[in-house]
Amino acid sequence: MKSYTLSDLASINENETKPARFAVIGNPVQHSLSPQLHQPALDSLGIDARYVRVEVESGKVAEAFDQLFEAGFLGINVTVPHKLEALEACHAVDPAAASMGAVNTIVFDKDGKRTGFNTDGPGFARAIREEFSVDLGDLKVIIIGAGGGAGRAIATQCIIENCSQVILVNRTLEKLAPLKDQLTELISREDLEGPRDRIEIMSLDDPQLESAIDASELIINTTSVGLNSADPSPFPSRWVEPHHLVYDTIYNPARTRLLRDAEAQGARIANGLSLLLHQGALSLEYWLNQDAPLGAMREGVQTALKG
Ligand code: ATR
Repeated sequence: MKSYTLSDLASINENETKPARFAVIGNPVQHSLSPQLHQPALDSLGIDARYVRVEVESGKVAEAFDQLFEAGFLGINVTVPHKLEALEACHAVDPAAASMGAVNTIVFDKDGKRTGFNTDGPGFARAIREEFSVDLGDLKVIIIGAGGGAGRAIATQCIIENCSQVILVNRTLEKLAPLKDQLTELISREDLEGPRDRIEIMSLDDPQLESAIDASELIINTTSVGLNSADPSPFPSRWVEPHHLVYDTIYNPARTRLLRDAEAQGARIANGLSLLLHQGALSLEYWLNQDAPLGAMREGVQTALKG
């Protein structure tokens, strides 16, 4: 499947049977699996529309939204590196997305005014329910890599869900103090229940990390460590025990070193495919106001990953 640029918009429907109505923007965007997730969904719902990739340069996100609306697009997903710029280019932003500091879903109203949402956080909560049959809010959580974009979205969701423990871990500790402040402010602003001191921050080489992992029920990897098959686990995986649930946001490779080790130690494991699926399903629900066909979406993305 090819990618387009904004200069292709004028001719994007030439020689095509279905009009382009949904897009993911990013740079680069060629790697995005969103079309393989969304096109089967649109097809299975009988919606006469194409979902395409559009490469957009940094600094041009607002302009891209204007042009896409003018070209008849109904909904947009946003991927790296544009999630913050997209937030700034919205007329209204969902409060949870504002706390996450990132927007991955744009909904246009009839005048082209755009509202930004972040479906990564809520999609993660759905993924945990699907994978482990438990509510995220009932778990004590530790997030390894909380300084990155995915880690921040998931940390925010953990606060929204009222997790009683949220330990934020990052190689670069300095990134975590501002995040902790924002999450603490979110707790006060939204008047969320639960202990005020539930958020802890820790660097990846903190000697207390082993005991922090031991005290946790759900271990989440949001670092990029594991994207290469030869990567080690982001922390010593011998610390994983059978009582742990281990979620790696990486889905390709399907089993990172962390997941392989964790499984061998008797923990329950899941990879990021369910997060990819549910964040996409939630985007579709925002655009179409109906339930997403999860089966078609799952099959589409699994086929793409095999190919
Ligand atoms: P994003 O696009 O999600 O923001 P990113 O900036 O590449 O992704 O960062 C993802 C996470 O992986 C970060 O938490 C990053 O840690 P730093 O904040 O210290 O950079 C983490 N990460 C990347 N490489 C790592 C490594 N070799 N060891 C530990 N953590 C690593």
